[in-house]
Amino acid sequence: MKGIVLAGGLGTRLYPLTYATNKHLLPVYNKPMVFYPINTLVRAGITEILIVTSGPHSGDFISVCKNGKELGVTHLEYAYQERPNGGIADALSLAEDFADGENITVILGDNTTDVDIADSVTKFKKGALIFLKKTADRKQLKRFGVPVFDRNQRIVKIEEKPQEPKSNFVATGLYIYDNQVFDFIRLCKPSERDEIEITDVNNLYIKHRELNWVELQGFWSDAGTFETLYYANRYWAEKEGL
Ligand code: G1P
Repeated sequence: MKGIVLAGGLGTRLYPLTYATNKHLLPVYNKPMVFYPINTLVRAGITEILIVTSGPHSGDFISVCKNGKELGVTHLEYAYQERPNGGIADALSLAEDFADGENITVILGDNTTDVDIADSVTKFKKGALIFLKKTADRKQLKRFGVPVFDRNQRIVKIEEKPQEPKSNFVATGLYIYDNQVFDFIRLCKPSERDEIEITDVNNLYIKHRELNWVELQGFWSDAGTFETLYYANRYWAEKEGL
């Protein structure tokens, strides 16, 4: 299993904080944000990692993550996404050579969690596995991908930023895919916000009846808005005993 951290975009939701740096290099308590998703992969035994980044501050990732040794990464690669607003699936398409036919665990560079995903990683065979987080907060639900379930608790589709969320689960930015993912990405067309959506890729796996899910039992938050950046900072500071 190889790991991919998607750390592109312009971080416009965090302007002016991201005028002079990449969102994923902003601090979450005592570490740059991107260390958290890298650590999630390393804890699960994934030490061959690709970081996909974009935008004017992408060179700074090398100063911060270096060759990955300090983070327990044995092999660290970088890729550059030409269109910073091309979308998550567009960024992921750059990982095809790196994946080299193997299964991949993908995590968004602004997602932080203390859950250990080692078991899911070890047991994964084929298709896609997505990690869901339960929340009753309607405002939060409308900001994310939200699954729709049938009566057997199978996901029939995922709706991206729905006005009327049909479940109390958020699709987190943590996914495990087999190599079909790159063919599925090629089938996706840009969405209304002109991005190649990871939700469309997941919906293709659903169509092929090859998408499973697991609930993240523990802390999970993105850190891409002022509210969630503050929330993640507070959580990790308190966890470290502050
Ligand atoms: C993206 C995905 C969304 C997912 C979220 C998790 O949203 O499109 O499905 O729920 O990450 O962080 P975005 O950050 O692009 O708004």
